[in-house]
Amino acid sequence: MHDHIFNNYTAKDRGNLIGLLQDVQEIYGYLPEIAMQDIADFLDMPLSGIYGVATFYNQFRLTPLGKNIIRVCRGTACHVKGSNDVLTALEIELGVNAGETTRDKLFTLETVACIGACSIAPVININEEYYGRLAVKEIPKIINKYKREAKALEKSTQESENKNASVK
Ligand code: FES
Repeated sequence: MHDHIFNNYTAKDRGNLIGLLQDVQEIYGYLPEIAMQDIADFLDMPLSGIYGVATFYNQFRLTPLGKNIIRVCRGTACHVKGSNDVLTALEIELGVNAGETTRDKLFTLETVACIGACSIAPVININEEYYGRLAVKEIPKIINKYKREAKALEKSTQESENKNASVK
């Protein structure tokens, strides 16, 4: 199934594992279970060994990314200004831990090192947008904004699908 990836590698050579995982993740954005099984078969390795490596390196992701990526800065300036509280509040608001994606696939919560906006610490970014000097109490409002946007998008997509269906 993943022959287009495997063509670049030698079968049964376990030294290729990291490269294969990187290639799969580049295509899918994460490591789907079926691809991990294909890699296990290709390298003649137990699936548990593939998982062991994939979970050891934090460059690898076992679940797909959410629509909105929230990055909480854990750099020193943000830490001093309360980034721990910000992270905890986001984890509670979203019902996930750092590194996880919400069930509705709307948000992925990540932590990162300094994102270069120390003067407005503590800071998070959501996709391309930065939220600085962030107070914990502002978090529900910010999250709701993205939820509303997603709902509005879903509604307009639904409406245009209905329109197209009635034209046919
Ligand atoms: S430490 Fe957070 S932006 Fe630099």
